[in-house]
Amino acid sequence: MAVTLTALDVMRDAAVIPVIVLDDVAHAVPLARALVAGGIRMLEVTLRTPVALRCIEAIAREVPDAVVGAGTVRSAEDAKASLRAGARFAVSPGYTARIGQACRDIGLPLLPGVATGSEILAAQEDGYTELKFFPAQQSGGVAMLKAWQGPFGDVRFCPTGGVNASNAPDYLALANVACVGGSWLTPPEAVASGNWEGITGLAAHAKGLARR
Ligand code: 3PG
Repeated sequence: MAVTLTALDVMRDAAVIPVIVLDDVAHAVPLARALVAGGIRMLEVTLRTPVALRCIEAIAREVPDAVVGAGTVRSAEDAKASLRAGARFAVSPGYTARIGQACRDIGLPLLPGVATGSEILAAQEDGYTELKFFPAQQSGGVAMLKAWQGPFGDVRFCPTGGVNASNAPDYLALANVACVGGSWLTPPEAVASGNWEGITGLAAHAKGLARR
């Protein structure tokens, strides 16, 4: 991997970026190790729980083979706090110029979320051409991505939201999809019960998914 991580590096490492929700800091390190053991290193820990930043810190400190990022980044402040915690990339559910500027200022690679042509244009105006399509399945799915191939042929997407092991291959077959995101690698019951082997199995399957 390049010394300076880019959003494209984040997307190209594996076919799936796991979207992770953690309620307990004690789960962060074993979960990250389980995903890395299955070949998935780019880990998106969402800022949706009070312990999320501490989980990012723990993974950054204790799992050197993982590249931990922050998901659900909704403000410039979220981006700065994520960087301080050790996040190496950020994913946002939408896009604002302020978030884009903050991430550029602090050198944090950002995958901004978009769901419409106007949002793609806004992100592109600010130099972002690797984008999360969110929520993908609910916003038109594979058909929407095909429609975007004409006007936005230079954009690479990471569809997320409603993507799972069954429909991921349909997305990954598209030329404008670099990877997909989803929570199916980390089922809440498997995390709660510490079924790390099960999670490694899900990660290994995801790692083996073919891409164009
Ligand atoms: C996200 O939180 O970014 C997505 O909602 C994950 O969606 P999923 O739970 O449908 O995979």
